[in-house]
Amino acid sequence: MDKLAIQGGHRLSGEIRISGAKNAALPIMCAALLSADTLRLDNLPKLRDISTLLTLLGHIGCDINLDEKGGIDLQASQFKHLEAPYNLVKTMRASILVLGPMLARCGEAKVSLPGGCAIGARPVDLHIKGLQAMGAEIEIEHGYILAKAKRLRGARIVMDMVTVTGTENLMMAATLASGTTVLENSAREPEVIDLAQCLIAMGARIEGAGTDTITVHGVDRLHGAQHRIMPDRIETGTYLVAAAMTQGDIRLTDTRSDTLDAVLDKLRESGARIACTPDSISLQMHHRPQAINLRTAPYPAFPTDMQAQFMALNCIANGVGRVTETIFENRFMHVQEMQRLGAHIDIEGNTAMVHGSASLQAATVMATDLRASASLVLAALVAEGETTIERIYHIDRGYECIEEKLNQIGAQVRRVH
Ligand code: EPZ
Repeated sequence: MDKLAIQGGHRLSGEIRISGAKNAALPIMCAALLSADTLRLDNLPKLRDISTLLTLLGHIGCDINLDEKGGIDLQASQFKHLEAPYNLVKTMRASILVLGPMLARCGEAKVSLPGGCAIGARPVDLHIKGLQAMGAEIEIEHGYILAKAKRLRGARIVMDMVTVTGTENLMMAATLASGTTVLENSAREPEVIDLAQCLIAMGARIEGAGTDTITVHGVDRLHGAQHRIMPDRIETGTYLVAAAMTQGDIRLTDTRSDTLDAVLDKLRESGARIACTPDSISLQMHHRPQAINLRTAPYPAFPTDMQAQFMALNCIANGVGRVTETIFENRFMHVQEMQRLGAHIDIEGNTAMVHGSASLQAATVMATDLRASASLVLAALVAEGETTIERIYHIDRGYECIEEKLNQIGAQVRRVH
């Protein structure tokens, strides 16, 4: 299994381009199942999760054509299997996003339950409850969701909790339902908006994406379209924190600052100087960061997918930072690994008190999930000596060419096969 070897102590400076967003690309690729025509997607990130989903879409019967520029044509003119098998779903829980589109388009779907995850139980009960409200008959058998519906019908659905993929699955299903669906307490994430924009380009009638109430007027069919995947705001945030921790000076291009308000506020609070243009963000840090307090919550509040990275920043910051995780019940797996690098962190319930130290010491550590592994890379960039990070397949799921990009701005990162 691959590992990363990172020599700490190098100040980051220079420019890198941000890739397309994993969490926008995944639902948007599933939207191709809603139409018999071609959906053309540009700015698709080259990630392991994207490849996993392409394998699943191919299994279902989707024609897939990739071009050398990173664009892709997806066409679901016919279906081979109305099924998402366990061996694919278990490697990537976002596979659940084929459920709504397949059921809406074909009237039936068999999708493996995702099962548990390192960061929490992550049930999909709200996805199922919403589809049942739209008239679907759903049974759970042998670990599979078996869903049937002649044609889904519009409904008013109030979701108990804000769920990103739940909102996306139901919004996609509602596009082909008879009548109008109102999704209350919807997720407002920018990736939900990007999906809605793609669906509207395919002929869907959607209002209110980006607010907590989304209204979808069902239509009989959707047509082909072209869509450019939005930039990855979490990848952007991760590199900005890396620069802040190394007291660096970087510029990120092909990104969007308007999706990162909460993150940029915290970076400014830690002492960073930030300048934004419509498609670029520059950050300079001239001194050791100041410790910050944060509390994760649904968008537009502070994203849980940036919690681990800011915990790494607090490990070397001036002062004590309080980090509270409210979305996932088990998202502090990186703490034990950071303590191996010499970090001082006390956990009480869903809050971690991080006592900043002037330095960290290199060691061998293990990645446990995608964002935890990113935080270990950040900690290794400032640790004294060479750190080895094991199980980096987690990183390849969500960061395109991370060692090339970091080395481009002055880091010393090696992939060890
Ligand atoms: C999406 O996951 C993202 N994944 C996650 O990013 C992200 O952490 C999360 O949203 C929160 O922002 C993708 O977009 C592919 P949720 P999702 O449903 O949709 C509970 C990354 O690092 N819940 O919004 O699966 C759930 O347990 C990944 O890129 C139910 O109880 O998250 C959690 O506590 C990790 N029942 C909360 O809601 C349900 O039916 C929010 O989860 C659904 C969710």
